[in-house]
Amino acid sequence: MQQVKAVVARTKGAPVEVVTINVPDPGPGEAVVKISTCGVCHTDLHYREGGINDDFPFLLGHEAAGVVEAVGPDVTGVAPGDFVVLNWRAVCGECRACKRGDLHYCFATHNATQKMTLADGPDAGAELSPALGIGAFAEKTLVAAGQCTKVDAEARPAAVGLLGCGVMAGIGAAINTGAVTRGKSVAVIGCGGVGVAAVAGSALAGASPVIAVDIDAKKLAKAVEMGATHTVDSSQSDPVEEIKRICAATYEGAEGADVVIEAVGRPETWKQAFYARDLAGTVVLVGVPTPEMKVPDLPLIDVFGRGGALKSSWYGDCLPSRDFPMLVDLYRQGRLDLDGFVSEEIGIGDVEAAFEKMHHGEVLRSVVVL
Ligand code: APR
Ligand code: ZN
Ligand code: ZN
Repeated sequence: MQQVKAVVARTKGAPVEVVTINVPDPGPGEAVVKISTCGVCHTDLHYREGGINDDFPFLLGHEAAGVVEAVGPDVTGVAPGDFVVLNWRAVCGECRACKRGDLHYCFATHNATQKMTLADGPDAGAELSPALGIGAFAEKTLVAAGQCTKVDAEARPAAVGLLGCGVMAGIGAAINTGAVTRGKSVAVIGCGGVGVAAVAGSALAGASPVIAVDIDAKKLAKAVEMGATHTVDSSQSDPVEEIKRICAATYEGAEGADVVIEAVGRPETWKQAFYARDLAGTVVLVGVPTPEMKVPDLPLIDVFGRGGALKSSWYGDCLPSRDFPMLVDLYRQGRLDLDGFVSEEIGIGDVEAAFEKMHHGEVLRSVVVL
């Protein structure tokens, strides 16, 4: 066991704290990873607010890159010294989804078996719940070995670590779930970190036009930097009409975009996506709604009559072992600008301030450097 510094949400709604935690030595199937960088994601804030569950204290952070320090006795997939991006989809190979070949739907993904614990304070010894089974706002963390995906060690950690969550969700929403290819038109509604990643993924796949929609002009400017060919400020004009107009100007007869990606997670914007897609087009919901949200007044005949596919995308339907090394290579070749997602590099004590910036839409990603 060893003691390291880490960012913990002790109780619901309270600001996060930098504390000392105990990290066990890796047991069977486990690895200890020395964290290099970890991005700040909305999900960390949701944990802190009690919006995911009540299993406090949480060890936050889950968009991380680092170097494997030690592995358990039976681990063969990674070794000490490997540069890895951490994932929250360590597939089991044995559940119903894995057995039928849908590994990206694995229902029993692996996490570390042993628990990390608080080292100090009145609740010393309390077991930590690591965010998404990772917990990487920490100098070191304990994960299942399958959560470590080895990638090119020359890559910049702050950039490629983001593939561990939000950026992969967006890119995967486009290329995996939406099956975006050359010759297709795409619209992305909501251009935060996830939506801009969907824009970048669509551009990478050769789609045109790639239409970015947001209510914030700064976000639209960033989307253009990352590959959007057109922008629509939906606080100023009707995004459905604008998407239809832009697509028809490129492809005669088009009645919308072939693929519309919703990256906000709200009924109004999902409905815009629904009506902005071409006949037989695809809607991909990658924004995460809250439990009480409903889509009101959607005529079932419109669902039937427009055909196509209404999909959702969890973690960009990614397979880390397939997608992370491939995307890191494209990044290294200059074909995917992962640096563009890193708005700032911050210290371990700056997570609470980063939540504030995220809340005000000031950043795509703040990345903690450990
Ligand atoms: N129409 C268009 N864009 C909108 C609207 C709207 N009505 N409301 C908000 N937006 C934009 C915001 O301006 C912002 O640019 O959606 C974007 C949301 O981005 P972020 O808050 O940075 O969130 P992000 O990290 O991209 O995640 C998007 O996916 O993972 C989930 O929980 C996450 O639901 C969230 C979504
Ligand atoms: Zn499985
Ligand atoms: Zn995340």
